[in-house]
Amino acid sequence: MNHKSIRRSLLYVPGSSEKMIKKALDLDADSFILDLEDAVGLTEKGLARQNVKLYISHFKARKKEVIVRINDVKTEDGVLDLEAIVEEMPNAVIVPKADEEAVLITNILIKSTEKRYGIKGFEIGIIPLLETSYSIVHTFHILSSSDRISGVQFGAEDLTKELGIERTRDGKEIEYARNVIAQAGNARKIDILDTPFTHVGDRDGLIQDTNNAKSIGFTGKTCIHPNQIEIVNDVFTPNAEDVIKARHLIRVFDHAVDSGKGVCMFEGKMIDNPIADRARKLVMKADLISGLTINN
Ligand code: COA
Ligand code: MG
Repeated sequence: MNHKSIRRSLLYVPGSSEKMIKKALDLDADSFILDLEDAVGLTEKGLARQNVKLYISHFKARKKEVIVRINDVKTEDGVLDLEAIVEEMPNAVIVPKADEEAVLITNILIKSTEKRYGIKGFEIGIIPLLETSYSIVHTFHILSSSDRISGVQFGAEDLTKELGIERTRDGKEIEYARNVIAQAGNARKIDILDTPFTHVGDRDGLIQDTNNAKSIGFTGKTCIHPNQIEIVNDVFTPNAEDVIKARHLIRVFDHAVDSGKGVCMFEGKMIDNPIADRARKLVMKADLISGLTINN
C-alpha cells in the first residue's frame, strides 16, 4: 500500500474517554490512535466504540490522520469494532496480537464492510501490532499477509510480559525484537513504529528511548501522553544543520557525476551513490515535514 503522510508521533487516546478524545483534536501529533483495546475496561467497550465511531470524522475534518486500535478480531468485540468503524473510514486499523490469520480476518471484514457501504477509492490501511514471540519469529510473513499493510507497530509490554522478563529503562531486553521489526518493515517499505515509553514524567528517558529506536531504523513512535508528542516529533525531524549539509553534499556529488565520475570527496570523506541517496532521502523527508507545517 502506498502511504504518503508522515508518521513521527502517534498518540494513543483511550476510546472510552470523550474528554481525552476532544483534547486530542487540538494536539500536534502526526497521527491519533483511538484505542478500543487495552486502554478500555471490559465494561466500557460499547461506550468506547460509540465514541470512536462518532469522533473519527472530527479528526478527518481537521486533516489529522486517525487510526483505530481494535480488539482481537478473533473475538466478538473485534468484529463489532470493525463493523462499527469501517463506515467512518479511518486511515488505518491497528491489529493487536497480530499473526497472519488476524491480518487475513481483518482484511476480509474490512473488505466486506466497505462493500456493504459502497466505499470505493479510499483504502483503509492495516497496521499489525507485533507483541508476541510468535510474531517476532514470523515478522516478515505477517507483514506480507495483506497489501493494505501501511505500517507495523512494536508492542514491548505484552511481549516482555509473555516472556516473563523485566522491562528496563534502557530497553536491552527488546533490542532483538526491535531489530527484527526494523529489518522486516524496511524490506516491506512501510512505516516502522515503536512501542510507547510508559514512564510519562521521564523526559530524558523518552529522548534516549526514541533515539535508540530511530538509530536502528524506526521511523516513528507511539505516545501515550500529550507531553511526549513534541519530543518524539523532534527526534524524528531531520535537524536543520544536517539538511544544509545534505543539500551541499548532493550538489558536490551531482557535479562530480556530471563530469563523468562515480565517486568524489566531501569534507574529507569519500561519497558515492548510496551516500548521496541517503542525503536525498533526508532532504525529501525534511521537505515533506516542512510542507506539512506550512499547510497546517
Ligand atoms: N490523549 C489525550 N489527552 C490526554 C492523554 C491522551 N493520551 N493523556 C492525558 N491527556 C490529558 C488529560 O486528560 C489532561 O487533560 P486536562 O489537563 O484537560 O485535564 C492532560 O492531558 C494532562 O494529563 P495528566 O493529568 O498528566 O495525565 P492523566 O493522569 O490524566 O493520565 C494516563 C495519564 C497515562 C492515564 C493517560 O495519559 C492515558 O490514558 N494515556 C493513554 C493510555 C493508552 O491509550 N494506553 C494504551 C496504549 S499503550
Ligand atoms: Mg496489549
